[in-house]
Amino acid sequence: MTKTFEIAVISGDGIGPEITTATSKVLEILSDKYSFSFRFKEILAGDRALKETGHALPSNAIDEIKKCSCCLKAPIGETARYVVLPLRQELNLFANIRPAKTIPGIPSIHSGVDLVIVRENTEGLYKKIDDISKECAINVRMITKEATERIMTVACKMAKERRKKLTIVHKANVMISCVFFRNVCLEIAKNYSEIDINEIYVDNAAYQLVINPQQFDTLVTTNMFGDILSDEAAGVTGSLGILPSSNLGQDIAMFEPVHGAAFDIEGKGIANPTAILLSCSMMLDWLGEKYSISDAKQAAKDLENSILKIYEETNIRTPDLGGKNTTNDFIRELLSIF
Ligand code: IPM
Ligand code: MN
Repeated sequence: MTKTFEIAVISGDGIGPEITTATSKVLEILSDKYSFSFRFKEILAGDRALKETGHALPSNAIDEIKKCSCCLKAPIGETARYVVLPLRQELNLFANIRPAKTIPGIPSIHSGVDLVIVRENTEGLYKKIDDISKECAINVRMITKEATERIMTVACKMAKERRKKLTIVHKANVMISCVFFRNVCLEIAKNYSEIDINEIYVDNAAYQLVINPQQFDTLVTTNMFGDILSDEAAGVTGSLGILPSSNLGQDIAMFEPVHGAAFDIEGKGIANPTAILLSCSMMLDWLGEKYSISDAKQAAKDLENSILKIYEETNIRTPDLGGKNTTNDFIRELLSIF
């Protein structure tokens, strides 16, 4: 029997709706080729939701997403933090996986980079334990054993499947919460003797990412460090417009491009759909794993390889990469490759 994946879709703001429309077309066509299908459930969230309902994340959104297999989220505009952060925290999407890989055919300051940042996604400086007065403001950086153990476990499992090299990124020379993070990580590391595990201060990690990013395979770090380093990794591998990500929880996940709503090009039909499509590839892989459907894992590879082929073998480029092509040109080419 054909498996139907229920996907909660947040089409977001700015270029969000146009790249989401393009993406659902691709997913429909891809599902014709394989033995699964999709049912999309639109979830209103973001700037448009605020305007129409008075809430950036309407109260039923979380429950609606929980009823689905997973969520595909396009970028949100001004209200991003009121949507993304509650989604991550309330759905307990504790692992933010941000691969940064150079793509042959896309100019970048380095070649041959293939790394993944495993970012803790629920606490640290994002925990919202804060206070403000006229004279002072504080954010408490909370790091728990539970969250650190589970993010390190995810990172170790990923590193094991990759090049077996894992770097713990922290600032243990200054912050006691980082000493704690490092120690809990090293405790988990004892179960993974086959992985080469090292550690680095975050400032040095930022420097090394610029001068020698090829040395890294899997990096594990806390929430804010992961946020900053993943934008940097995008800059090093080419463009924020191509970076996908997943937010993984126990039994649910959310997939989203790392880039923002890009209001300056909204409605012009020239947005680069690469990041959201690569996020869909991660989604298909996750769905394949979750429901033991090898066809979905195959489709994930098919989608990724077809995108890479466009960059390697054609000159089709949207303006963010210096080209003159439209979103539809890119999609048309992609569909012709399938
Ligand atoms: C990201 C974004 C978010 C974050 C913002 C929009 C809340 O920058 O996904 O990296 O800080 O995590
Ligand atoms: Mn960010």
